[in-house]
Parts: sequence; structure tokens; C-alpha cells
Amino acid sequence: MTLLLNMKNIERHYETPAGVVRALDGINIEIQEGERVILLGPSGSGKTTLLNCLSALDSPTGGTYTFHGAEVPRNHSEKMTSFRRENIGYVFQFFNLLQDLSVLENILLIQELAGKKDPQRAKDLLELVGLEAEINRFPGEISGGQQQRVAIARSIAKRPTLLLGDELTGNLDTETSQKVMTALVKACVQENITAVLVTHDESLVQYATRVIRIDSGKIVSDEQTSSTSEE
Ligand SMILES: Nc1ncnc2c1ncn2[C@@H]1O[C@H](COP(=O)(O)OP(=O)(O)O)[C@@H](O)[C@H]1O
Ligand SMILES: [Mg+2]
Repeated sequence: MTLLLNMKNIERHYETPAGVVRALDGINIEIQEGERVILLGPSGSGKTTLLNCLSALDSPTGGTYTFHGAEVPRNHSEKMTSFRRENIGYVFQFFNLLQDLSVLENILLIQELAGKKDPQRAKDLLELVGLEAEINRFPGEISGGQQQRVAIARSIAKRPTLLLGDELTGNLDTETSQKVMTALVKACVQENITAVLVTHDESLVQYATRVIRIDSGKIVSDEQTSSTSEE
């Protein structure tokens, strides 16, 4: 096992006129490479704040955070941006595909922005998420679940070390969510990507290797699951 990241006593406090909001209040997490973590918790418990700190989109106000043994930058937007560019993939609840580009072009564009255009890999990734027949269609011509699978292929196109998702099935029905999650697990296993996925949908636990529950900015449980996915 290789340690990917380590958060020690991470705090994210907001000063507000009404007092201090402790969005994260002493978070301790070690995540090994290859883990798939589902992060569960009620609304307002700190899930999005934690993802934003994990991805260096936001800076903790206390504690230490290392990634592959190196301190993750904070309060320095350029260093935080390069950390994200080098390490992080992100899947959104609303797929954020470019509507005027085909499915394939959406992937090619991301590769181009990352400076490594590779049409064969783009096609392979779309096949991996089960969309080989849709590569020349436009986002408006495929279903929501298919669009989210395009978004997953896009987020892993640059080979992120860590894939993050915030309610990525929040906009999908149960059956479609299962398909999307199956595609995501397959992609993570094949590409050796670690994932941390926020949800309030308990049924997604079956796709995780570990489930962390958070409430009021604190971890209230942290358990390995007996996931029997295609590993
Ligand atoms: N910019 C902010 N200023 C003040 N409080 C905030 C801010 N952003 C988030 N919070 C508070 O931090 C807590 C955690 O929010 P969040 O991480 O978005 O929760 P979740 O994603 O679990 O719903 C909430 O109480 C929220 O109101
Ligand atoms: Mg949230």
C-alpha cells in the first residue's frame, strides 16, 4: 500500500458576523492509493468544504495536508492551480459538457488543454465507459447518464491521481446512477485512480472500498467495506 494523502487535524473555519463557522473541525484522514472513498453526511456537514480542501481549491485555516509526502499549497492561487492541474480530476453534478462539441471532441479538447492530444486514448476511454457508439453525437443527443459517463471519461483523460465527485449522480435516477457508478469504478480500477466521492445516496456505498461519515465538520465513522467490485 502506498499512502496518497494525509490530512491531520484539518480545520476550515469561517469568520462570519454571527460568529465562527467550523465547516471542518479537526479532520484526520489517510488515504492509500487505489481506495474508493464514499463521503456521506447531511446537508451542511462539511462535505463540499472537505472536497475543496482535498483538491486545493480552498485553503484550510488549520492543520497539515500532505499529498505523496509533500505539503499541499494553500493561500497561493497559482501553486494551488498547478497542484490541481497535476493531480486532480473532478466530476460535477451538472455534467458541464460543451454542447457545441461532439462527445469525442469534448475529450480531445481537454487533452489539448493539458497539452497531450491522443485520439486513440480518447476513444479507448469512451469505450471504457460504454460509449463507443456515441462518440460522434452531441451532448444534447444523449441521455443524462450517458453525458455523465462522458464527463467521467473527460475527468480521467489527463490521468489524475485523485478523482473527486460532488453528488455526481445527484441528477440521475437510480438505475442510471448504477450504470454511471459501474463505469466509474471500472475506469478507476483500470487507470489506477483513487477516488473520493461525496453523496447522500446510501446505495452508492456498494461501489466504495471505504465509507467515511461526516457531521458538523467532524468524522463520525470511517470503515472499510467488503467491496467486491472488479478488482
Ligand atoms: N463561504 C462561507 N462562509 C460561511 N460559512 C460557510 C461558507 N461556505 C460554507 N459554509 C458553511 O460551512 C458548513 C459546511 O458547508 P458545506 O461544506 O457546503 O456542506 P455540505 O457540502 O456537506 O452540504 C455549512 O454550515 C455552511 O453553511
Ligand atoms: Mg455540498
